[in-house]
Amino acid sequence: MASSVYLDMDPGHDDALALLVALALMPVRGLTTVAGNQTGDKTYLNARRILFLANQLHLPVAPGYNRPLFRNLVTAAHVHGQSGLDGYEFPEISPPDRSMDAMQFLEIAFAKEQEPVVWIATGPLTNVAAFLIGHPHLHQKISQIAFMGGSLSGGNITPYAEFNTYVDPDAAAYVVGCGIPITMVGLDVTHKALLAQKDLERFRCLKPPIGEMLYRLFTFFAGHEPNAGDRGMPIHDVLAIAAIANPGVFTWEKISLHIERCDEKRRGATEIKRPGSGYPEIKVAVDIDVSGFFEWFWQSLVYYQ
Ligand code: RIB
Ligand code: CA
Repeated sequence: MASSVYLDMDPGHDDALALLVALALMPVRGLTTVAGNQTGDKTYLNARRILFLANQLHLPVAPGYNRPLFRNLVTAAHVHGQSGLDGYEFPEISPPDRSMDAMQFLEIAFAKEQEPVVWIATGPLTNVAAFLIGHPHLHQKISQIAFMGGSLSGGNITPYAEFNTYVDPDAAAYVVGCGIPITMVGLDVTHKALLAQKDLERFRCLKPPIGEMLYRLFTFFAGHEPNAGDRGMPIHDVLAIAAIANPGVFTWEKISLHIERCDEKRRGATEIKRPGSGYPEIKVAVDIDVSGFFEWFWQSLVYYQ
């Protein structure tokens, strides 16, 4: 039986799409939300909005940290809008029960799991780091952590750093060095797998309201994602789902990685270090079969037809 999957996200347009793909393909057992693309209250609401439209509001979703471990929050409102999911008018949904926060939910959920779980993170790694720091006895319950973040080829929020590792470099450095097998999917591949603007129409073949929602969300996103252009738009977080569901579309390398935390100019930069130099070694996606990825991507969305 496939391992249980837990998601930690900051929806966010590409997180929302990644969530729908994961729900279609994987045994997702729970979702935690973190501040990043927008504030924590907005990413939590957005996660519930997507679950509601996907008829999955029964899935446990718990709010996590509202700011990085040690730094002030930097959001991406310029990319995702004031709501974090601008471009589509979501219906009102029932208020959350807020009975548990992310740490409480994960402690209970992971302790109950009979087999180690797969954890996929698509926002700043604040929740993941905080949970690992506070629950060393539960590390054994996690078989691997895959995260969207970092870059070996320049940044998107600064010339040096990708947004997720920039927002919380301390959390990213802790997670990369925590000893659990880590998989990194960074801009090196997400800037290659660009969703063509002409293909947005394909979302409209999906059942309402999912199809129209995705079409409108990504029409907005195309006009706001800094690296969107004539060749299309990156859908970053979906590739973190592919890293687990379809790892064969990537070329992987084991890389010793340093995450810059002290030099403010290079804050959050993910830098290659010489093997055996004492830096943690993780699995990094260094290339992608773009057509193979999109064949998998569109096939996964048949679930919503
Ligand atoms: O740099 C891209 C990452 O930052 C994605 O996860 C996007 O959702 C934003 O969080
Ligand atoms: Ca994200």
